[in-house]
Amino acid sequence: MDWGLRNRIDRMFSSTSGHSVMLAVDHGYFMGPTRNLENAKATIAPLLPYADAIALTRGILRTSVPPSTTTPIVLRVSGGVTILKEDLSEETITTSIEEAVRLNVSAVALSVFVGSPHEHESLSNLSQLVDDGQAYGMPVLAITAVGKELEKRDARYLALACRVSAELGAHLVKTYYCDGFSKVVDSCPVPIVVAGGPKLDSIEAALALAHDAIAAGAKGIDMGRNIWQSEHPVAMMQALRAVVHHGATVREASAIFHEANVASAPPAPSGMA
Ligand code: 5RP
Repeated sequence: MDWGLRNRIDRMFSSTSGHSVMLAVDHGYFMGPTRNLENAKATIAPLLPYADAIALTRGILRTSVPPSTTTPIVLRVSGGVTILKEDLSEETITTSIEEAVRLNVSAVALSVFVGSPHEHESLSNLSQLVDDGQAYGMPVLAITAVGKELEKRDARYLALACRVSAELGAHLVKTYYCDGFSKVVDSCPVPIVVAGGPKLDSIEAALALAHDAIAAGAKGIDMGRNIWQSEHPVAMMQALRAVVHHGATVREASAIFHEANVASAPPAPSGMA
């Protein structure tokens, strides 16, 4: 792997744990002003110091993230439909690779819709993006989207979608946690990070998702709603970091969450693992 491409990937993952806590705030690209992300700048600011990478669109990057940030950027470059459409799979590439380089991002990300009406287009988009990215040392993160069909989150389907993404050249894959998740990880030759999905019933359920995903071999999380729709987003980031980077149990991480939201959130430690 070329040095530049390797460097872009490595800076998103901790050199000590090998894992990553990515903050996903790209939801507006098809969901509009999602709850607690209406003012993206205000949502992002306190969380950014705790993120190993942040996933967003160029519009939110330019308007809502200070250019002085050192946090690696995962730039979403697919879109073109909104939740008003029944079929969410008709995505195109919305942002060029030159724009991604201009924005100095660490990776580009797109959704692939395996089994959906526009499966072919989304997989062609992935292949083209890998080719385009190769010329600039730009890694590609494939997101195995399920659209509105959340029931697709099972090991057989996700293993297929992740494996196909890796076969077509994705350097990283984002998918969902599911029962039998190790089958998904074991059959995917590139690192996997997991999304959180819609907000879960409890903090502990979200921490357990992260814990079990890492235990099954995921290299990190790329989570949104279960962080910034939590009552205490900074405390949630701290608890998730304990799980992902330090192997905390759900009980230990839950205690960190509750302690952190009693005290006012301390500044992020320098040289965070
Ligand atoms: C939106 C995405 C999100 O980044 C991904 O789903 C992670 O966010 P959440 O944890 O809220 O599911 O790809 O299309």
